[in-house]
Amino acid sequence: MKLANTIIIGLATATLLILGCSAKPSVSEESLGLRKSDLYTESNATRGDQTKYGTSVAGSGHKIPRAFQDAPPMIPHDTEGMLPITIDNNQCVSCHMPEVASSMGATPVPASHLTNFRPVTALSKDGQLTANGAVVTNTSSEKQEDISIKSTDGKLSNARFNCSACHAPQSEGIAVENNFKPVFTSKDGANKSSWNGAKMLEGLNTAEGK
Ligand code: HEC
Ligand code: HEC
Repeated sequence: MKLANTIIIGLATATLLILGCSAKPSVSEESLGLRKSDLYTESNATRGDQTKYGTSVAGSGHKIPRAFQDAPPMIPHDTEGMLPITIDNNQCVSCHMPEVASSMGATPVPASHLTNFRPVTALSKDGQLTANGAVVTNTSSEKQEDISIKSTDGKLSNARFNCSACHAPQSEGIAVENNFKPVFTSKDGANKSSWNGAKMLEGLNTAEGK
């Protein structure tokens, strides 16, 4: 009796499997993705919004409002021939370093770009990680004593060399609308940086400061 039951269940499962395999697919290709056309068509409808970077030349006076207080401003001018930035070719500095900026009509890099925030990290003889000579467990500490805030004496901090890591040219054609409305903490925050002096210490954990 037990064996017969097992055989019946086995047969039923096999029938279901065969039926399942021969059933027509119920999901159409057109409904699979967001593009609403089959996977073999490349028409304008499937290409989406094109990226159109601004072409206004540097010096035209065009500025793009900041996304939030002290956000890296977007590049408002054409960057044709300037990117990618390489060790031998960084045209950005030839207009934006403070010593040349005013003669080029450009905004000089702010104080933060002339500051070294990186502590001197090293391994001690017994294999412990040190920052500015003191033993630390990791180098991403937010404690003030583990952070170095040193002027680079007017030289661009190496951490800021690759401008396009933070500053991007803006493109037209909105893929996804941005509904974020910034509240600026300084009056001219939409087009000016305020992050310098004592402000650079804000948010650092100084409670345990030594
Ligand atoms: C030929 C000079 C020149 C070069 C080269 C240049 N810029 Fe500019 N940049 C300007 C000027 C002038 C402005 C001010 C706005 C304007 O008049 O277009 C400006 C504005 C900006 C701003 C906006 C500042 C703000 O407060 O809104 C950013 C960011 C910027 N440039 C980044 C860059 C980066 C990054 C590069 C290199 C890829 C670069 N620039 C290369 C001249 C230059
Ligand atoms: C690690 C990210 C980062 C890099 C790299 C970087 N910037 Fe910035 N930049 C910022 C941020 C954030 C701000 C706004 C806050 C501030 O002033 O520090 C800013 C502000 C600026 C401003 C506006 C200054 C003002 O007073 O309104 C200019 C111009 C600028 N950067 C140019 C450059 C240029 C040119 C380079 C490359 C030589 C560069 N930045 C590299 C993050 C960066």
